[in-house]
Amino acid sequence: MIALGPAPGEVRHPVFARSFDRLSQLMEREVGGCREELLAGLRGRVVEIGAGNGINFQHYPDTVEEVVALEPEPYLRGKAEYAARGAPVKVSVHDGVATPLPLNDGRFDAAIASLVLCTVPDPAGALAELRRVLKPGAELRFMEHVRSQRPRKARLQDRLDRSGIWPLVAGGCHCARSTVCAIEAAGFLVERVRSFDLGPSWLVTNPHLLGRARSPDRGG
Ligand SMILES: C[S@@+](CC[C@H](N)C(=O)[O-])C[C@H]1O[C@@H](n2cnc3c(N)ncnc32)[C@H](O)[C@@H]1O
Repeated sequence: MIALGPAPGEVRHPVFARSFDRLSQLMEREVGGCREELLAGLRGRVVEIGAGNGINFQHYPDTVEEVVALEPEPYLRGKAEYAARGAPVKVSVHDGVATPLPLNDGRFDAAIASLVLCTVPDPAGALAELRRVLKPGAELRFMEHVRSQRPRKARLQDRLDRSGIWPLVAGGCHCARSTVCAIEAAGFLVERVRSFDLGPSWLVTNPHLLGRARSPDRGG
């Protein structure tokens, strides 16, 4: 029998992966400051899901003890492994999706979701997994593009997602997810969030939100 396409659970987007790798490097001048802000002040052990080509790694502050980075797409994972070697902090890169996370409970001081909750097939499941592996009271830092507050644009984003067009061209990405609502629904307490655009505001991948949320203390 000939196996067509990736095995179940496998993530393989060869064309998107190569274009995203180029694009993220081209956009680093514009996005680098946001990545720096996303990671500022972190300490201890950090888990990063869907780390892509590892472009965040250079921005981790040296107060971070260790980053455990997961990336399921083989081309991007190779790039992330290369980026890890030049990172200012210890980074290990592993093959793995967000649901389930191949990690033990309550081990991390912070989790990073950067441009990834738009792509995972089950964002609620991914957030539940992040809560599971975080210590009580630990932080979730996020930078995500989300569904617009403007009704006309939101309707367009909804249509692009529902038709499957946007996920098809953008490696499984969705442009109409209300990610902060999903973060709250997962039981995180959102402490800070700011909105910004990357590139022209009319892009279906705007607006972006950059923020911090906290996993409740034990019993929360
Ligand atoms: C738009 S890229 C963002 C990469 C990186 N986090 C960044 O900030 O540039 C989305 C990433 O999510 C990864 N991804 C796709 N499906 C996933 C899944 N089920 N679990 C975790 N990551 C996934 C993709 O391979 C890709 O690296």
